[in-house]
Amino acid sequence: MNDHAISLVRESFDLVTPITPQAAALFYANLFEADPQLKPLFKGDMVVQGHSLMQILELAVNMLDQPHVLVPALQDLGRHAGYGALDHHDDTVGGALLKSLRRGLGAPWAPEVEEAWAEVYGVLAGTMKEAAEVPA
Ligand code: HEM
Repeated sequence: MNDHAISLVRESFDLVTPITPQAAALFYANLFEADPQLKPLFKGDMVVQGHSLMQILELAVNMLDQPHVLVPALQDLGRHAGYGALDHHDDTVGGALLKSLRRGLGAPWAPEVEEAWAEVYGVLAGTMKEAAEVPA
């Protein structure tokens, strides 16, 4: 990702930081609306789950320019196959994330901000997927 895209992502995530519990709740509401079949895959406490998701997003946003830190953290999440996550869920999750950011931030949401976030999601999902495919 280029520096400009990274700055756009960081500036928009600064608006999320003070409202992470609400942002997480909005994300899961959007996700389960998009695909109600995903709901039973989440077996734990959704507040805790939302916190974990926001933590990894925060790490990703901070470490976009430091792949040696980001990539191992994402590789750990390659265990998603064990949660019942399938390839086609990637688009549903990415769509719900962008929708939540677009609706939740209430800030001007330029197409280039959305494109930058789509790129971030692509990096996250792609790295997790590669890790899941490589035998340990
Ligand atoms: C960039 C994409 C994603 C990120 C960063 C992400 C992040 C996380 C994190 C941090 C957790 C907490 C538990 C753990 O550390 O293992 C988690 C759990 C989970 N994720 Fe994801 N995830 C992503 C994509 C997906 C997709 C595509 C699905 C598809 C269904 C999914 C389904 C789940 C489920 C079901 C759990 C919880 C399992 C349980 O309740 O025991 N995730 N995810």
